[in-house]
Amino acid sequence: MTFSIAVSGKGGAGKTTITALLLKNFIKKVKGPILVIDADPNSNLNEALGVEIKNTVGDLREKFLKSKDNLPPELSKEDHLSYLIQSSMVETDDFDFIAMGRPEGPGCYCFINNILRKILDTISKHYPLVLIDTEAGLEHFSRRTTRDLELLLIITDPTISGARTAKRIKELCKELHISIGKTLLIVNRVSSYVKERIDELVKISGVDYAGIIPEDPLIQQFNSEGKPLFDLPSSSIALNAVSNIVDEIILQLIKRQVLL
Ligand SMILES: Nc1ncnc2c1ncn2[C@@H]1O[C@H](COP(=O)(O)OP(=O)(O)OP(=O)(O)O)[C@@H](O)[C@H]1O
Ligand SMILES: [Mg+2]
Repeated sequence: MTFSIAVSGKGGAGKTTITALLLKNFIKKVKGPILVIDADPNSNLNEALGVEIKNTVGDLREKFLKSKDNLPPELSKEDHLSYLIQSSMVETDDFDFIAMGRPEGPGCYCFINNILRKILDTISKHYPLVLIDTEAGLEHFSRRTTRDLELLLIITDPTISGARTAKRIKELCKELHISIGKTLLIVNRVSSYVKERIDELVKISGVDYAGIIPEDPLIQQFNSEGKPLFDLPSSSIALNAVSNIVDEIILQLIKRQVLL
C-alpha cells in the first residue's frame, strides 16, 4: 500500500520548501524507501534537496520519441520507456528522486503520456510513501497528471488571496473527481501569529487546518548562500514547525493506512 502526498498551493507559497522539510522529517520517522517526485516543470526541488537531475521524464519522452522506430523488436515500447525512467532515477541512501520536466511539447502526447502515467503508477507502488511537489496553478489537476492521493497539503502564505487559491484547489479536485483521502491547509511564512487572522484564512479556504510554519530567516540565509534546504539544522524554526505537523497529524494518517 502506498501513501501519496501532494503539496500544492499558490505560486511562491512555499510548496518546494515545505516538500523538502517534510522529506527531512519523513526520513527520520518513516521506515522504508520514499519516492520524491518533482512534478513542477520548472523543477527546483532537486536544488532544495541537494541532488542532481540526470534526465527529467520529459527529456526521456523526447529521446524515446526520436528513437522509438529503431528499438530492438523484442523490447516493447512500454518496457523500453520504463527502463529509461528507472535508470534516470536519482537514488540516495534516504530517498529516490524523479523529476517530471515538461509535460508537453508540440504534437500529440496523449498516447505516450498515458504510458508514462502507467509506468509511474507501477513504480510508485513499490514505495510505502510518495511525496510530490506540484507546480503552481491548477492545470496539472485538470490535465489529470495529479493522480489519486491519500493526502493533499495546500500551502498558503498568510494572505486572503492564498486562502482563496486554496479554496479553488479544493473545489477543483472535487469537480474533477480526484480521489483524495484528506486535504489539509498549512499557513506558511507567518511572521506574527495572531490566532484570529489564521482562523479567518482557514475559514476562507474551507480546508481543514494543519498548522503554521513561521517565517524562518535561516531559509533565506540558505537560499542566498545556495545551500540545500535539506541541510537546515535542527534549530530551524520552520523545520521544527513541520516536524510538529508531521508528528501530530500526518504520521497518524499514514499509520492508519500503511503499516510503516
Ligand atoms: N517559512 C519560510 N521562511 C522563510 N522563507 C520562506 C519560507 N517558506 C518559503 N520561503 C521562501 O519563499 C520563496 C518561495 O518558496 P518556494 O520556492 O518553496 O515556493 P513554491 O510554492 O515552491 O514556489 P513556486 O510556485 O515558484 O514553485 C523562496 O525564496 C523560499 O525560500
Ligand atoms: Mg516550487
